[in-house]
Amino acid sequence: MTARGRFISIEGGEGVGKSTQIAALAELIRMQGLEVVLTREPGGTEGAELIRQMVLGGSAERWSPRAEALLFAAARSDHVERLIEPALASGKWVISDRFIDSSRAYQGAGSGLSDADILTLHQIGSRGLLPDRTLVLRLDTQEATNRAAARDQNQPDRIQGRTATFHSDVDVAFVSFAEREPRVRLVDASGDTQEVTARLWSEISDLLEPA
Ligand code: TYD
Repeated sequence: MTARGRFISIEGGEGVGKSTQIAALAELIRMQGLEVVLTREPGGTEGAELIRQMVLGGSAERWSPRAEALLFAAARSDHVERLIEPALASGKWVISDRFIDSSRAYQGAGSGLSDADILTLHQIGSRGLLPDRTLVLRLDTQEATNRAAARDQNQPDRIQGRTATFHSDVDVAFVSFAEREPRVRLVDASGDTQEVTARLWSEISDLLEPA
């Protein structure tokens, strides 16, 4: 029987260098002779990418917080069933750019839904699947805002354009998950790219041991 692959999610506010770090981390894992599938949320499958367009595009008022939470949960359901679970079952490692903790932070802490409600939606949609490890990249808020603005040419999507208070609530939520859940690790995203990659690697290398 093939050993199940490992599932890693990468989280963090806007502009913390997630894409670069995900590519670097995948390379290190591949160097161990493992297959790695890179994916993202919202998205990752055809249906979930369609939901992504609906949920990130349009006016700030397009969706109520509850409708938005359901859409993210629906996108995640398709993503888990059709991409993540089959990959893990065939022994591949999966790295997802964001996963359930984004819903807990953005739709939960940021938009006022309870953590229990978000986790109930996740139970219904995705049988409560949790990553083996969640790495939260963190940067000083001002540095992150500058980087994100440079990248997006000051055209934030529905969610990026929310207030500083919203984004600060999101950040506080990620910190609280890390304090309470050993699966979740905070990683300092400042400094040299290679140093950050090394920090991430040190937070996942134990997963290479047989389960
Ligand atoms: P994206 O363009 O992928 O940017 P980044 O991950 O670099 O910030 O934007 C995804 C946006 O969707 C981001 O603002 C966070 C938000 N989001 C939620 O609000 N809830 C979720 O469950 C997920 C997966 C993302």
